[in-house]
Amino acid sequence: MTNVRAGILGTGHSYPDGILTNADLENLVDTSDEWITTRTGIKQRRKAAPGEFTSLFAVRAAREAIRRANLDPADIDLILCATVTPDQILPSTGCIIQAELGSHKAAAMDIVAACSGFLYGLTLANTMIQTRQSRYALIIGAEILTQYVDYTDRQTCVLFGDGAGAAVLGPVEGNRGILAARIKSDGRYEEQLYSPGGGTRRPPSAETLASGDHFFKMKGNELFKVAVRSMADVSREVLEEAGLQPEDVSLFIPHQANQRITDAVANKLNVNNGLVYSNIAMHGNTSSASIPIALDECVEAGRIKEGDLILLASFGGGVTWGGVLLRW
Ligand code: ACO
Repeated sequence: MTNVRAGILGTGHSYPDGILTNADLENLVDTSDEWITTRTGIKQRRKAAPGEFTSLFAVRAAREAIRRANLDPADIDLILCATVTPDQILPSTGCIIQAELGSHKAAAMDIVAACSGFLYGLTLANTMIQTRQSRYALIIGAEILTQYVDYTDRQTCVLFGDGAGAAVLGPVEGNRGILAARIKSDGRYEEQLYSPGGGTRRPPSAETLASGDHFFKMKGNELFKVAVRSMADVSREVLEEAGLQPEDVSLFIPHQANQRITDAVANKLNVNNGLVYSNIAMHGNTSSASIPIALDECVEAGRIKEGDLILLASFGGGVTWGGVLLRW
């Protein structure tokens, strides 16, 4: 049996209309546009309105990706929804999306790997396609993070935004497709970014709600160092596995967490700044949605052409990290 290579056949993205600017945040916490801009690069982020939920945007992004792949929802046989902000605990948001799309022959599930969730999904779907257990996989990163943000905590509330991005992965011919993919985690860093309440360890109660245990807690500057090191290392690893160099990369899309993290990783890798995509100013950190939104924006802007070498790298709570190298 000949080897099958998987490639991206279509992408899509969607986000709420609501915008939360740095000026809006100045009215909520002791911060300034100047601090947020210089320390993070963020100018605004999308914020879902009450009644808007994760799968709403996931389904819109997914429909676009399936349409661009020239497929029908019924062709999809695997749905992986990366999210840390699911519609509800049960069923998975993946199953909710499946029903909404009408992809009835798919296996559907969620991936909980925070900001690395989309690359976890790409990596797993890649293996499923290579081993011929799937043909057309839909991978979605979708988050309504603003529901888990404490708008009295200036260290976290300026960072996060909402949105969804999706990609359809399927078999491709020739030299295209995923050349190398690697995912990793280290649970010893749990407390760098976590949400302690609301699960079985600390079940939801009036007390956990009152103490804000369901909100994200973060040790920002420790995470910063792990982020830079892990994204640079995993990027080098996937390049090495494919026998390629940083100077071969046509476009680098890192997880959009902080412009200073992006700049530090690009610098460590020696990738020219002009080849590094950034939309952090407009979206903030949308966790698992950040890379697929960025990828689709690049597709829409005509920034990617056939044969381009694209490097994706991420890190997130867990901590988790990953890298995917693909030829478009
Ligand atoms: N406005 C004004 N001042 C602030 C703000 C704010 N919004 N937030 C923090 N400060 C203050 C701090 O209180 C501190 O003041 P002090 O010196 O008087 O104590 C000062 O600014 C410096 O604080 P640091 O935390 O050292 O600032 P730093 O330069 O590290 O930037 C930041 C903080 C932006 C959080 C940065 O560390 C970062 O981006 N870390 C990575 C975070 C991240 O990416 N998290 C997401 C992970 S992905 C996922 O899984 C969802």
